[in-house]
Amino acid sequence: MRTGCLVVTPERAAQVAEELGVGQFVAHALEQTPKKVMVVPIPTDVRNLVVVPADGTEDDPGKYRKRIDEAVAALRGLAVKDAVWCLNEMPAPESGGPADAYWKTRHALGALSAALYRYDEHKSKPSPDRGVARVAVLAEPGTRTAVRRAVGEGNALDAGMSLARDLANAPANVCTPQYLADAASDLAELANVTVEVLEEAQMAELGMGAFLSVTRGSDTPAKLVVARYQGGGEGDAPFVLVGKGVTFDTGGISLKPGAAMDEMKFDMCGAASVAGALRAAIDANLPINVVAILAAAENMPSGKASRPGDIVSTMSGQTVEILNTDAEGRLLLCDALSFARRYEPRTVIDVATLTGACVIALGAHASALYANDEELGSQLAAAGRVTADRAWPMPLWDDYQEQLKSNFADMANIGGRPAGSITAACFLSRFADGLRWAHLDVAGTAYRSGARKGATGRPVPLLFQYLLDRADEAASAP
Ligand code: BES
Ligand code: MN
Ligand code: ZN
Repeated sequence: MRTGCLVVTPERAAQVAEELGVGQFVAHALEQTPKKVMVVPIPTDVRNLVVVPADGTEDDPGKYRKRIDEAVAALRGLAVKDAVWCLNEMPAPESGGPADAYWKTRHALGALSAALYRYDEHKSKPSPDRGVARVAVLAEPGTRTAVRRAVGEGNALDAGMSLARDLANAPANVCTPQYLADAASDLAELANVTVEVLEEAQMAELGMGAFLSVTRGSDTPAKLVVARYQGGGEGDAPFVLVGKGVTFDTGGISLKPGAAMDEMKFDMCGAASVAGALRAAIDANLPINVVAILAAAENMPSGKASRPGDIVSTMSGQTVEILNTDAEGRLLLCDALSFARRYEPRTVIDVATLTGACVIALGAHASALYANDEELGSQLAAAGRVTADRAWPMPLWDDYQEQLKSNFADMANIGGRPAGSITAACFLSRFADGLRWAHLDVAGTAYRSGARKGATGRPVPLLFQYLLDRADEAASAP
């Protein structure tokens, strides 16, 4: 076999090396750092071995995925165009994890697409390094159907994540509410998809005073974008995904400090992720109905901007005292949640880079997960676990609601410093009465800061998996 690289377990490496007549050489190399991922160049038709030892990979999907990510990083470091992936032999967790060929292949694809993603839209000279171009997955006899399915669904997820990352990485002078509306409208080219864009005047008619208060200071009109995918039956209740799409968050009159303010172009990651999840569902042809609602607006200070102390009325009829114009995400989302009711949803999941407090609580490893429905909450947590796109459950106890008391309106839009991610979720919960609703605060997970600054595409894997699992249920129902 002629290939740039084989990605293999140590056992397989030894066997292959023996067959290629370089057994001694490889055995010696493998003794050096037996627990690390290692590249062994060999003078044969197979030019390199990337050797990937199991080291806790059987413990949990997160550890398994981490190791796969390391294997991909090693592969990426080689200047090879093609490779054969033989890692479906690696030990993996039996329960709720990548025990079988389907899951191993999904993680291989997931790691590859994450590592090979580039955003050089705005570089005058795109990076010449495109990485490995073709990876073949070696499927054991009896696993071919599962592996083929994993490749199909893995590619659908890749398309969705790339869309989410491209939208989120685009700067705020490019990625405006109109740009998000246009990106969603592009999806209407695909089968069974329709897109509708509501303008500010229509939102005013619906009574969306909270939503409109956010965009008041901006010269760029807000949009409420609704993209619908009808993969299921006419009468099937849809899964509704709602995304925070603040294309830039200055804080408004409650202006943010200057440091790292550029990162507030990522404040539309929620909207990008629901568009991405929808794209993945479309590409995978899921037999369910999905509605993605993108709440798109820019939060700017100006002579027209909302002031601290302003009181607005929401589509639900409840009034809100805006004590801090920087707590704008919940103002968009509360009206978007009320709007979602018209689709008589099976479930509603909103996704938002909602609070800095969420980053303090959970860092970059887990999204915060809130749900007013136990089944929905555990289904989302499970979807996050198997995809290694984890979400951790947080409380919505009534005790926290007290922090939202206002002297002048039905509620305030902030609850003070303690438990900031929770009080934000509690605010939203007041608009989700009677819905089966969940909220994902992705402020720490949707993008990275620092040297690797950029959108991660999370939580598209979790959302897509949740939808895929529901589609599987529908298929296996009597
Ligand atoms: N978009 C921010 C939340 C955020 C902060 C995301 C840092 C990622 C990193 C949100 O609109 C915001 O400003 N929230 C305020 C709420 C506060 C005023 C109650 C925050 O977290 O400081
Ligand atoms: Mn803000
Ligand atoms: Zn924000």
